[in-house]
Amino acid sequence: MEKLINYIHTVEHALNHLNVPVYPKTLYQPITYTLGLGGKRIRPALLLLANDLFSGRQENALSAALAVEVFHNFTLIHDDVMDDAPLRRGKETVYKKWGINTAILSGDVMFVKSVDLLAKSPEDKLPELIHLFTKTAFEVCEGQQYDMDFEQKTDVSIDDYLKMIELKTAVLLAASLQLGAIIGGAGKEDQQHIYEFGKNLGLAFQLMDDVLDLYGNPEKFGKRVGGDIIANKKTYLLLKAKELATGELKKELEFCLTSKALKDDQKIEKVKSIFNRMNIQKLATAEMDLFYNTALSHLDSINAPKEKKHVFEVFAKSLMNRDN
Ligand code: IPE
Ligand code: IPE
Ligand code: MG
Ligand code: MG
Ligand code: MG
Repeated sequence: MEKLINYIHTVEHALNHLNVPVYPKTLYQPITYTLGLGGKRIRPALLLLANDLFSGRQENALSAALAVEVFHNFTLIHDDVMDDAPLRRGKETVYKKWGINTAILSGDVMFVKSVDLLAKSPEDKLPELIHLFTKTAFEVCEGQQYDMDFEQKTDVSIDDYLKMIELKTAVLLAASLQLGAIIGGAGKEDQQHIYEFGKNLGLAFQLMDDVLDLYGNPEKFGKRVGGDIIANKKTYLLLKAKELATGELKKELEFCLTSKALKDDQKIEKVKSIFNRMNIQKLATAEMDLFYNTALSHLDSINAPKEKKHVFEVFAKSLMNRDN
């Protein structure tokens, strides 16, 4: 665990020394603002841990670690526009603070910066790293588009949902681990297992994000609680409730989802009360546990000393019990 905390500090420090230009202020200030807001830094931490698992040197992987974090923050800036989100990490979103055009362009610059950082990785590994990074970036955009398309659809299945969250969220965690493993010199089979570990962990992670979106403590969560319901997101919670509701509950849920008369807070409260009566939170955490366990079985298959893999277990467990 100490290793993990050190990595997070290293990443935090390096992000503060990225040498983001100053002018034009309206382009670069939102970037410094976003990167300075904290966040869990799980993707770069996973990348550095994976590099270390295969005995790679930290200095060879740091730039790629920063690349995945800057890329992730770029997706958040654009995501907040797409989700009309007012809060991120307990502060105003870039989009609310500076407007949509700033969010677009500052986000774009961060994407370019992430590629620039990745390109500073060890030269002999670059073709593999760039191939995985760009494949993942395509997939994240595809996932984000499905997420948007689903807002308007009423016949989204749980399988559709799982594919969507695999793309928008899970593959970036998976790729972060594989990038670290590549830099660390892992063989193909271990790369595959660590990718699958990350993918399943990422699926569990997004299920938890959906749960927190409604059940999180607003102080700690840092995002608007109930935002998914207002944005008409097809989350696991909603899809499971739609699948299982019958009789009066079904009617009530249908009414909440279609009525124009309800104010935002009323809608959140009513939908939440339906979910509560159906024990939906428990069903979502059960689904999350399934992916979490699959993740652990892939971790088990990686050809590395058990003691060295332990930190991944501790980390994964902490992500399943988080409050933000
Ligand atoms: C938020 O990611 C977006 C999702 C994929 C759910 P994180 O929960 O990792 O956000 P930060 O970086 O810690 O703020
Ligand atoms: C976001 O999913 C995934 C990406 C940013 C690619 P969400 O929209 O659920 O993330 P939050 O909840 O706003 O962090
Ligand atoms: Mg969002
Ligand atoms: Mg979103
Ligand atoms: Mg969310």
